[in-house]
Amino acid sequence: MSGVEVRQASPNPQVELTVPGDKSISHRAILMNSLAQGEAEIRNLGPGADVRSSIGCMRQLGVEIDEKDGVFRVYGQGFDGLIESRPPLDCGNSGTTARLISGILAGQPFTSVLVGDQSLSKRPMARVARPLRMMGASVEGETLPLTIRGGGLNGIEYQPDVASAQVKSCVLLAGLFGSSPTTVIEPVATRDHTERLLRAMGARVDIDGPRITVRPPGELRAVDIAVPGDFSSAAFWLVAGLIVPGACVTVRSVGMNDSRTGLLDVLRDMGAQIDVRDPRQVGGEPVADLVARHSALRGTSIGGTIIPRLIDEVPVLAVAGALADGSTTIRDAAELRVKESDRIASVARGLRVLGVTVEELADGMIIRGGRGFSGGSLETLGDHRLAMAWAIAGLAAPEGVRIDDGECASVSYPSFWQDLERFHSA
Ligand code: S3P
Repeated sequence: MSGVEVRQASPNPQVELTVPGDKSISHRAILMNSLAQGEAEIRNLGPGADVRSSIGCMRQLGVEIDEKDGVFRVYGQGFDGLIESRPPLDCGNSGTTARLISGILAGQPFTSVLVGDQSLSKRPMARVARPLRMMGASVEGETLPLTIRGGGLNGIEYQPDVASAQVKSCVLLAGLFGSSPTTVIEPVATRDHTERLLRAMGARVDIDGPRITVRPPGELRAVDIAVPGDFSSAAFWLVAGLIVPGACVTVRSVGMNDSRTGLLDVLRDMGAQIDVRDPRQVGGEPVADLVARHSALRGTSIGGTIIPRLIDEVPVLAVAGALADGSTTIRDAAELRVKESDRIASVARGLRVLGVTVEELADGMIIRGGRGFSGGSLETLGDHRLAMAWAIAGLAAPEGVRIDDGECASVSYPSFWQDLERFHSA
């Protein structure tokens, strides 16, 4: 698949779907169980290329990971069972793989080289190299390729200057191998899947406001995990439900971890009708079914502590903002500039193609909404979340849209284009 044409949705679509397993939790399920004592079964693992990158790297480091009937089994190697890989470890497009695995490799008494695709090779790695060096690892490179020679780590207290769950997780994972406890002080709270899983695996993690401390546990216990549906994937369908006339969209079994669901709060504030049904727990994480109905949206202003809670949803939130009455302002989101693409520049450019007035800010954008979308040809720059956000815009564009690359959606959501079809036949 290369280019894709997305037609306007059929009127009044009534759509019910499930989304793939959560990408963030899937990475952690693979990486952390690889370090555990014992075997773990993982169900509903995210099927995207990013999670495959984590699996590929751990296999290169000597971990056996099998798949049978969609269930993955990870044979944990313990803290000292990984082996050096001669070929570089290929993280593909996956920032989560590169940054989290760096923490693990910093604890290993051998040398590893991390490489990635063109986009990942431009993304900042100094944010993980710096604390790992403070812990005693040798890390060469500020971007990929990164060469890490680990072992003999000491615990540190570290305050990252960016709010990043990947940095926090990297330091906490390295902290497992430290000679003393390691504390990360978060500037703003970010997703907490690493902390939850560390605790479930028997590690002591103390959380005191922004201070998260891990005590080197000696070992982790393997745990079976049923991965909840990915809120970040569900976000596309929720916005589709809100902006397509007469739509009602139900997404089942969606992960509702509070550190991920900032988009729900913002959309509701914009006037969205979204119901949360049957809230329940799956594998230590909250899960619910979500129902979104076509709604008259008004513009909003966001910034500050909510940003990490919706950081991956900004492209599709911008699509909603463009159709809302009035202006939508997004600030404090400079991190978007170092995602799979510069998502401030790329979202602003794409919305302008669709006839929307957008002002780009250093740390966000102002979108003047409410005039609808004209058709147009949109670029993804190989960024999965842009491809999917543009597809949702296409559902609400009378002339439809053309997207230059549909394939990149498979980084997180390989069946996205099949699921999108439901808006044309429903
Ligand atoms: C992720 C954290 C976020 C997010 C990314 C996944 C994670 O990145 O954008 O898609 O799984 O920890 P940062 O930690 O760099 O903000």
